[in-house]
Amino acid sequence: MCGIVGILGARPVAGTLLETLKRLEYRGYDSAGVATLENGQITRRRAAGKLKNLEACLAAEPLFGHLGIGHTRWATHGRPTAINAHPHQNGKVAVVHNGIIENFKTLRDELRAKGHTFASDTDTEVVAHLVDAAMSDGLAPAEAVAATLPRLKGAFALAFLFEGEDDLMIGAREGAPLVVGFGAGDKTGEFYLGSDALALAPLTDALAYLEEGDYVVLTRHGAKFYDTESRPVARKRVKTPASAFLIDRGNYRHFMDKEIHEQPEVIGRVLAHYLDLSAGTVALPFELPVDPARLPRLTIAACGTAYMAGLIASYWFERIAKLPVEIEVASEFRYREAPMQKGGLMLLISQSGETADTLASLRYAKQQGQKILSVVNVATSTMARESDVAALTLAGPEIGVASTKAFTCQLALLACLALAFGRARGTIDAKEEARLVAELMAVPGLMAEVLHREPKIELLARDLGKARDVLYLGRGTSYPLALEGALKLKEISYIHAEGYAAGELKHGPIALVDSDLPVIVLAPRDRVFEKTLSNVQEVAARNGRIILISDSAGANDLGGEAEIIAMPDMAPEFSAIVYALPVQMIAYHTAVFMGKDADQPRNLAKSVTVE
Ligand code: M6R
Repeated sequence: MCGIVGILGARPVAGTLLETLKRLEYRGYDSAGVATLENGQITRRRAAGKLKNLEACLAAEPLFGHLGIGHTRWATHGRPTAINAHPHQNGKVAVVHNGIIENFKTLRDELRAKGHTFASDTDTEVVAHLVDAAMSDGLAPAEAVAATLPRLKGAFALAFLFEGEDDLMIGAREGAPLVVGFGAGDKTGEFYLGSDALALAPLTDALAYLEEGDYVVLTRHGAKFYDTESRPVARKRVKTPASAFLIDRGNYRHFMDKEIHEQPEVIGRVLAHYLDLSAGTVALPFELPVDPARLPRLTIAACGTAYMAGLIASYWFERIAKLPVEIEVASEFRYREAPMQKGGLMLLISQSGETADTLASLRYAKQQGQKILSVVNVATSTMARESDVAALTLAGPEIGVASTKAFTCQLALLACLALAFGRARGTIDAKEEARLVAELMAVPGLMAEVLHREPKIELLARDLGKARDVLYLGRGTSYPLALEGALKLKEISYIHAEGYAAGELKHGPIALVDSDLPVIVLAPRDRVFEKTLSNVQEVAARNGRIILISDSAGANDLGGEAEIIAMPDMAPEFSAIVYALPVQMIAYHTAVFMGKDADQPRNLAKSVTVE
């Protein structure tokens, strides 16, 4: 999604704006731009494509202003051209925007009727026109912004510059995140705006988050926050733990590669946080917002990979805690008008904590009298702040657009939650808890072992890279993992892939099977193992090309019929966390073999703050 940055400084800011935008690249974008204010005049540089194009523009025609805004754009309205790139300017106002102005057509028609002409196809440009028109009517810049915000429907984070105002930058938020940074040391008196703490990490760790509907007026003398009614409000200054070095790619070719390899370590960190390793029990460091023993059911909503994590967890909550689970993709859940029994528990899962549909589901559930438990990676995110309890996945910043370590950390944490619910509901006794905890504690070591399978997977990927379609099959928790495998392959290699419950094969997809179709089967030795193998035989009987991800039992049974990615033998309950690794490595190496950008796949955004 779009990234926003603003600097109100004491020296030329264009170079720093560009560096800061590079830290927002992970969000996904297809054009970029900056504007600075010099001698009272706004000057812009914008370019389609990657930041190197904008860098070239700035090298050819530098900007020298001490006050500026920058933007990486993920196109929603209008193609990713330089003309549609932000900042947009009208008259005295320049603006950058993350989100969607849903009523922009109505506003644009109204402005056109008054004689306004538009330079771009974007929804954002109406904002610059509205604010400029309000200023032409005699309002001061902050008044003009305050008058414009209630007219905008949709989701937005905005940053503004104004011609003739070299000590003024304004930010506003409704439905998309925006943070204010405070300069310190030799940067005292500098102020920043950013889409997230990560972007501002090299500049400052002192931040204040805008609440929904807030706007902030920044001058070199301070930051003044206002709420939806334009009443002055105080917003707490916090220290962010995100630091500059955390998003270094190190010796890895891609962030995705690094994040795949970090998993044994980060999963160990999650388990150490949510388990008592010496006692061999679950030990949540927070109190649950409901009594699990009295809970009739659990509702889960999430998007994309986080939804797959929820699906896998639904098996655990049902089996371990005997708790009925309803799970839905958040984009559907938010509009279903599902009646919810008061006092119930809603579980939201999100890496970013900003996904628009998941956030809307959270707010819907709140209105329905649910307690909110969120599983999020970004501690300072909107979802974390709006939840009764935010359980952190502790994966560290995930920069690759394709979620890897955040997914497995979600799984590890959800497994701990399922154990905690099971214990509280009396569905597992101390012995069973200790057994399951021991299974979980074995996971980081098993993952480290699986990373050694990489050379084999790399070879396999050379073959997969030539396929037109790929089928993933699994049963039990391997079924959602099959969905995740297909999603991962699609999003970074652009190969069409489908995930299916292995038992569904004969109800349709088996018609696709021929010697050209790679069928990747996830078959840990669990209680449906034999059933899965029968489905594999059905594929083999039709000359299907089977790639079996399984342990020694699978290898023994199907050594002749399938190509095997040999997994270590393990207890079955949490195998999905370990089997996630080959699934991720297959997608990664296939994309790299095909010459695709694994970290920033086309059309995708890391943090999806629009519907
Ligand atoms: O930040 P979130 O976890 O809420 O994001 C949800 C999805 O957008 C995300 O998982 C997406 O599907 C990833 N690109 C998958 O790799």
